[in-house]
Order: sequence, then C-alpha cells, then structure tokens
Amino acid sequence: MAHGNSDSPVEDLTEEGARGELARLAGLLAEANRAYHTEDAPELSDAAYDALKRRNAAIEARFPELKRDDSPSEQVGAELAEGFAKVAHSQRMLSLSNAFDGDEVRDFDRSIRRYLGLSDGAPLAFTAEPKIDGLSLSLRYEDGALVQAATRGDGAVGENVTANARTVDDIPARIEGAPALFEIRGEVYMSHADFAALNERQIAKGAKPFANPRNAAAGSLRQLDAAITRDRPLKFFAYAWGALSEPLADTQKGAIDRMAALGFATNPLTALCDGPDEMLAHYARIEEARATLGYDIDGVVYKVDNLALQERLGFRSTTPRWAIAHKFPAELAWTRLEKIDIQVGRTGALSPVARLTPVTVGGVVVSNATLHNEDYIAGRDSSGGEIRGGKDIREGDWVQVYRAGDVIPKVADVDLAKRPEDAPRYVFPVTCPECGSEAIREEGDAVRRCTGGLICPAQAVEKLKHFVSRAAFDIEGLGAKQVEQFYRDGWIREPAEIFSLQERYGSGLQQLKNREGWGEKSANNLFEAIEEKRKIGLGRLIFALGLRHVGEVVSNDLARHYLTWDALVQAVDTARPAAHRHREADAAVERERATAAREERRARIKETRDLVWAQDPPVPEEARAAWEDLVGVDGIGTTVAVSLVTSFGQEAERASVDRLVAGLDVQAAERPATAGSPVAGKTVVFTGTLERMTRAEAKARAEAMGAKVSGSVSKKTDIVVAGPGAGSKETKARDLGVEVMDEDAWLALIGA
Ligand code: IVH
Repeated sequence: MAHGNSDSPVEDLTEEGARGELARLAGLLAEANRAYHTEDAPELSDAAYDALKRRNAAIEARFPELKRDDSPSEQVGAELAEGFAKVAHSQRMLSLSNAFDGDEVRDFDRSIRRYLGLSDGAPLAFTAEPKIDGLSLSLRYEDGALVQAATRGDGAVGENVTANARTVDDIPARIEGAPALFEIRGEVYMSHADFAALNERQIAKGAKPFANPRNAAAGSLRQLDAAITRDRPLKFFAYAWGALSEPLADTQKGAIDRMAALGFATNPLTALCDGPDEMLAHYARIEEARATLGYDIDGVVYKVDNLALQERLGFRSTTPRWAIAHKFPAELAWTRLEKIDIQVGRTGALSPVARLTPVTVGGVVVSNATLHNEDYIAGRDSSGGEIRGGKDIREGDWVQVYRAGDVIPKVADVDLAKRPEDAPRYVFPVTCPECGSEAIREEGDAVRRCTGGLICPAQAVEKLKHFVSRAAFDIEGLGAKQVEQFYRDGWIREPAEIFSLQERYGSGLQQLKNREGWGEKSANNLFEAIEEKRKIGLGRLIFALGLRHVGEVVSNDLARHYLTWDALVQAVDTARPAAHRHREADAAVERERATAAREERRARIKETRDLVWAQDPPVPEEARAAWEDLVGVDGIGTTVAVSLVTSFGQEAERASVDRLVAGLDVQAAERPATAGSPVAGKTVVFTGTLERMTRAEAKARAEAMGAKVSGSVSKKTDIVVAGPGAGSKETKARDLGVEVMDEDAWLALIGA
C-alpha cells in the first residue's frame, strides 16, 4: 500500500492541497485500522502509522477549519487504537459454579443423580483435573488450519486475538486428522519461571512488573502488537471444545485423549474417577502437587464423563450443570480495619465496606473488603447463628482478610487481644448517609435499605450508571463518569431526561460544548448516540431499569415470555393483588416457622399458606392466573415476581418509568429461534409421576425446544403431559378440551 508519500512539508501546503491531503490521510488510516483490528493483519508498521497520524494532526493544526467530520484525530485513540475486533462465539464460553468443600462436591454428585433420575448405586463417572489459573481461549480450526482465536469476553462475544495466539508454541497452526470444523478451548497461562524472568526484564527496562502470572498472561495475550506477545512465553492447556462438525468421542476423557493425539497439550493430572470418594482423593493429590507444578492452579474441575449425560444435563444461564470447580481454600492475611464506610447502591441497599490498611493476600493488594450487612458486622448470620465465634467487628480492629480466586475479599476473623478496651461497638446507621431518608430493614431481609427512592442522589446516580451500562442502553460517549457529571449539574436526573437532553440543552449545544471535556463534535456525537438508542429491545429495557433481582438473564426471559412492554406491564399490574396475598402468606409462614415443632412444620406451613390465600376478600381469579403465569416463567420465581410488582407499584418510580418509555421505540421480543421444533411457542404442563425423566429435566428440555412450561392448566395451555397419579390438572385439561398425552407420546413428539 502506498502511504505517506506526499512529502510536501505541511508549511508549504495550500488550502486546496491541505484539503486533499487530509482526505488521503483519513482514507489511509481507516484502511490501516481495518487491517489491524478486523483482520489482525497489520499493513503498516507502528512507526509508519504514527507518522501518518502526526502529519494529519499537523495539517489540522494549521487549517482547523478543514478538519473533516471523520477526522482520524477524533477517533478516540483508546477505542480504536486499543480495541480488538469483536468475535461472536458460535457456542457461548461459560464459567463454572464452585464448590468449597467435600460436602459441596457430594451435593454436586447428588444433584446430578436427582436431575437424571439415577439411583444412589448407579454408576456415574467424572473426570477430575486441575483448574488452571489463566485465561480461557477458543481456537477455531477449519480443515486443519487455525483460522481464529478468541478470548472469552462476556461469554457471548470475545476479542479476536488470532495474530497473538499464532505466536504461542503450544498452539499449532495446522493439525492433521481433526474434524473439518474444530473449535478447541483451553487456558492460556504463564509458568512461574517465565513469569519471574519477564518481571525481571520489566523492571530492568523501567516498566511496571506484573502482579501475578495470570495478569502477565492476560496482558501478554492482549497485546495489540503481536510481536510483543511473541516475546512473552505463553503456554496453553486444552480441556474443552465449542462447535464441531463431528463428535470427538463418547466421553470427556476420550475427548481429552483425542485432543492430545491431535498435538495439543492436555493436563497430565487429568484422572477418571468413579464417584465423590475418588474425586476427593484426586483433589488431595493435586493439592499436594500444587507447589511443584511450576504454574498456578486454583482448584480442581470435575466433569461428568459421559458426553450423552452432559448433553442431557445441559446448562444453567452461565454454567454447565455437568461440571463444577472445587476451589482451593482461600488465602489469608492480617491487617488493620481503619474505617467502616457505607455505600448506597442502586436499589437503596446500605452496604458496609471495610477500609483496610493495604495488605497482600495471595499476590493481590487488598485495601477494601465487603462487610455484607449489619448482622455480619455484629457476628451473626442471616438466621441469627454465630459467625467468627460471635465476634463483632469494630473500627480500628485487627482483622484477618481472605480472598478465594476472584471473590471479593472478606473478613474471616478479629483479633480481640489487640482491641482497645474502650473501642465502641459499631452502630449501623438507620438513616441513609447520602440523603438522610430513613433506612429500614424489612422482616426477613438481611439488608437495610434507604427509603429515599429517586430523591436519594446515590440511588439515582447508581440507577443512571446502570441504565447506560454496556448490557443496558450502552450509549456511546455516555458512561458512568459523564452520567455523574450530568447528574451533579442537574442536567440528567432520571433516565427519561437522557432522551430530552438535546431538546433541553441542544440549542444548548452551545452550552454543552462549553463544558469541560466536550467539543462541538463530541456533543453532536452524543446526541446522535442517544437518538440511536431510542429504539431498544424489550429485554435490554427491562434490564436497564435496574429492578431488584432482575438481571440480564431474567430480563430476557421476561421479554421472551411477554414479548411487548405493554403486555408485561399489564400482567404485572393484574397480578398485584395476588402478589400482596403471597407476601402476607410468606409473613404468616415466617411466624409459623418460629413456633411450630420441626416435624409438624411442613404440614402446618402448607396449611397456613392455604388459609391466607383463602381469606377475604378473595384474590380475583384473573390476578391469580396472572400471578401464576408470572412466577411460572422460566427462571422467574416469587422473589423476582414480588420485586416487579413492588417496583411497578411505587408511584414515583412508575411515573419515571412511564416518562422514559413514552419517549422510546421499544422493539418486541421474539420467541427463541426453535425452527422445526414441534412444540415451539406451546404452553405445556407436566403433571403426575414422570417415569423416564425427572421434572427438572422435562422442564429444561421442553424449554430448550421453545415450549413454555407452566404449573397450572388454563385455556391457554396447549399440552398436558400426564403421568400416573395425575389428578385435578388432568381433569381440568380434559374439561377445557386441552390435548392430554402420556410421557411416551411426549417423548415421541419432541423426537427424544
Ligand atoms: S471447563 C463449560 N476446565 O475456569 C465449561 N475450565 O471458572 C468450560 N478453567 O472459564 C470450562 N481450568 O477459563 C474448565 N480444566 C478446566 C479449567 C477451566 C481453568 C477456567 C476457564 C473457565 C473458568 C471458570
């Protein structure tokens, strides 16, 4: 590519010449960026690229009026120069749920047996292997050639680091005998020896050393200049896979052996175990070997060996049901707790934070630790039992801090011998430190919450920050920092005001561009970015509202179920009386729990619930139906449902949401793409005993095929699957003329 060859010195350029030169430079730099970021095939050396950028800047400085709308100097360096191209994973890259002791490992085995309907004695094998403390990477081979390497990112979309991965010795550029499409996944890591040598070199050249091998590996892989990655000795262990044109094997162990045969490094401490006893024995072996391995591991991963069973078990929203990480015990250190601060979150929760004299725990400097809530500070757990032997925490105490993996540090213990006799107990505030409103703690809630709602600046700002965050409205140019600034200055007080910003201050562009950090260009860009996001998907909108217990997954579940905003709001409003009754029943049951003897509890609790529901005035039929439909949505239980009903019922909050939605163009959601599924979009009810699968499995499989599983029969039900012992639901279905089938017919229908 020709570049930088217009050598007329900038001082000699005429206005006409400068205009042409700026156009040429914009084109060259755009092309260079594309080659670098999208194709990972840089066409310019860094020096040549920089020279073009400098020339562009010099010309713009001499002829400011000629600066182009797409000027390369306006393209925020951070985003373009530091970004990698994004890659959508063909299959999500998941994380693992954790177990912290042997009991939890046994629970894992039990829950899998329960899910699959296996008896205690039935064989169920697992692999056990070290959990490598690095970063995961997905490699895509087509016809034996490495065509793409991507980091995990948020699981759905990662970064394209192909050029960097090619420099890693353990990652072959070509392989023989693999499936035509072969995505292999594993962990990139750095050995202790290589880490020490790298840090020595960093220090020698005056650069900052890395905190630990994991950071060093991540920093090295995510280098824009692959030549730097080449100089950093990275390694790779393969342990999983994504898309495949044909299966690798029938078992996890078989698949690992196959990967090894294809030339990948697999971990030599991978073992096949016939159950929890052997798994825990292997854990002990790995823990013992830990110090001599020469690389960091932070636990042991267990996976169901039989791949057909893995398939049946499937996934929760972000983790597989068939695997778990058994973490090594946390690392500990003593330090002084200087002060307890209270932070107020988006939903008003008052969260105490320990400010610590900085201390290194397991290679990471820790200066804050969570104190959870007032009970935790007082030395009690949520049910009133003792923690830390009942020792409370006071400002000035010597505390033992621990962290396990990336878990937020916690306070494990207090040294009472070092506590001055007159140290006062910590008194948890009963008013919000941000707005002074009363902070109350509801029955059964471990957390004290500010009642200020939107008048509380901390809540309002946190809500706004959440609203503009990546998984929510993701408005370019409007991040946490800008939102804080706008809030402070009174320009944006609630989400709706983002969308009226231009109207109110736009002629006011003048005003905005006079503000610190804003120019005409960035102000215009902001208005454009805001306009673009008026059109928003329903799932994102729900998530953006930042309601308690309503995260990304729940939001999307709600969107897929109700499809439109109006339908959701109407359902929630209709369900309100039933939600209130549900809460009354909960409160009554709570009282019951305190008084009834253990054996009687179950029966008494059910009876109490039924009594409360039967009280006068009766809950309207339609409210009850709407409530059952709401709590029956996949992934949504009574906690989420109560939260929705409560939030939508608060007058000020509701008015604020209505103002927002009035200015938006909300896109209806679609039912999951389950093309060809005979049960997509159908509402199914399972009743009676299922003999070939468990309830949980039946539900998960039906939902995976696009069906909606409900707990109660109504006119809207399409199919009732009735096993032996089915009672009133089957009768009701027949009365309503709903199709009823047995388990075998259902399995035949879904092709299982
Ligand atoms: S299996 C679908 N096996 O741990 C399950 N993960 O905390 C895919 N990791 O994101 C993961 N060693 O980066 C698996 N032997 C191992 C692992 C391992 C390290 C990482 C991986 C994953 C994270 C979850």
